[in-house]
Amino acid sequence: MDGLKKDYVFHRDLKKKYPIITHGEGVYLIDEDGKKFLDACSGAVAANLGHGIASIGEAMAEQAKKAAFVHTMRFETNALHELAETIGKMAPDHLNKVYFTTGGSEANESALKLARQYHRDAGRPQKHIVIGRWQSYHGNTVGSLSAGGDVKRRHAYTPNLLNYAHVYSPYCHRCPYDRQKDDCLAKQNWTCVNDIERTILELGPENVSAFIAEPIVGSQQGAVPPPLGYFKKVRELCDRYEIVLIIDEVMTGFGRTGTNFATEQIGIKPDVITFGKGVSAGYAPLAGMIVHDRLIDSLIQNSDGKFIHGYTYSGHPVAAAAGLAALEVYEREMVLENVKEQGPYLVNRLLELKEKHPYISDVRGKGLLIGMELVKDIEQDLLFDPSEKASERLNEIAMELGAVFYPGSGSIDGIKGEHLIVSPPLNVSKKEIDEIVRILDEAFTIFKSQLRKDEMYEITK
Ligand SMILES: Cc1ncc(COP(=O)(O)O)c(C=O)c1O
Repeated sequence: MDGLKKDYVFHRDLKKKYPIITHGEGVYLIDEDGKKFLDACSGAVAANLGHGIASIGEAMAEQAKKAAFVHTMRFETNALHELAETIGKMAPDHLNKVYFTTGGSEANESALKLARQYHRDAGRPQKHIVIGRWQSYHGNTVGSLSAGGDVKRRHAYTPNLLNYAHVYSPYCHRCPYDRQKDDCLAKQNWTCVNDIERTILELGPENVSAFIAEPIVGSQQGAVPPPLGYFKKVRELCDRYEIVLIIDEVMTGFGRTGTNFATEQIGIKPDVITFGKGVSAGYAPLAGMIVHDRLIDSLIQNSDGKFIHGYTYSGHPVAAAAGLAALEVYEREMVLENVKEQGPYLVNRLLELKEKHPYISDVRGKGLLIGMELVKDIEQDLLFDPSEKASERLNEIAMELGAVFYPGSGSIDGIKGEHLIVSPPLNVSKKEIDEIVRILDEAFTIFKSQLRKDEMYEITK
């Protein structure tokens, strides 16, 4: 707050002052002082086409002028139908019905409830428990937070959370079960999969409703892809025990990993895909779920055709217009092709940084969703103490230098483990990637000079 002027904003961090962004141009955001920030994380992996695209703004304005709001209990719009059709056609076979929400948390909340209603209506009324995975994020509403395994976000609300179960996801770089990836693959004996089955049997399959997972673990683990074959085994378990498989593509959907949905690359058909962020490229709050025909048929046959759920702003016409216009831009600018070209280039450039800066212990990801694990000393595999807030500090240095990244912590066990996500808009150019890497390089050098002081402090204290 500047002196006399009262500040009415309930900020994300009430002790922090944030730059005021006046506008954006392509991959850049520009603040009121004219400072440019290269948006190397697309906000929160949402602004996937960059900023200032007039055609999306114009489509939203056109729709707002025609019909800004209709309630989907009584009316629908062409924008809603056209967007649902476009998304349904992009989705894997048999996933055809699209249900809209305003954010990813609501999308997952909807999917968890749909799974429950599906079982109840189909004569399996006991099925209600969801199995999620530690170090995964599915949103901040109570259901989605309960299904997720983000320890820091859950902690304050533990007494309010639902009694859902969790297993570890396959973080082969530091296997939580202390297995070696090659050994798992050779023996086809995966402790991370066995643990899912053990958990199902312990809970009683008759009680388990859904399994939810991100195809590539995003914000909580820093872009960790699964080992090949993991999800096929998960699918088999879900089939064996009649469990609804929900794949959370809120971060990965709409081209982020080089295909429309990451599901295509993990080689399975989920029962529900949830999406958000990229669908409108951040131009409007828009998310939802795409549902398998089997669940829809059951809703029609076993109940009165109604999903006992709904939000005022589901299928909001202006948001739907934004989604349609954004998907047109993805198509027109051949964004998928660009991701396939720039993704490997970005990884190679980050691997060069890894050679130079001993704090990068791993570079991983898919397409333009790339994460780096950060350690204090790579030789000794010494982790940063969480109180050092290493990844956040690195990002603050980078912001001073003019680029913003997506920092995260708790990737190893919910508390320990630092990472930084690099996820620029999907239409990023090679030149802009070079600029991202140049700024990151400089940020690491400054970070190192600051770290030395910390280390000395630790030794002398
Ligand atoms: C994988 C995943 N699921 C769900 C969410 C929650 O989405 P929202 O913040 O739009 O509610 C996020 C947000 O970061 C996410 O990355």
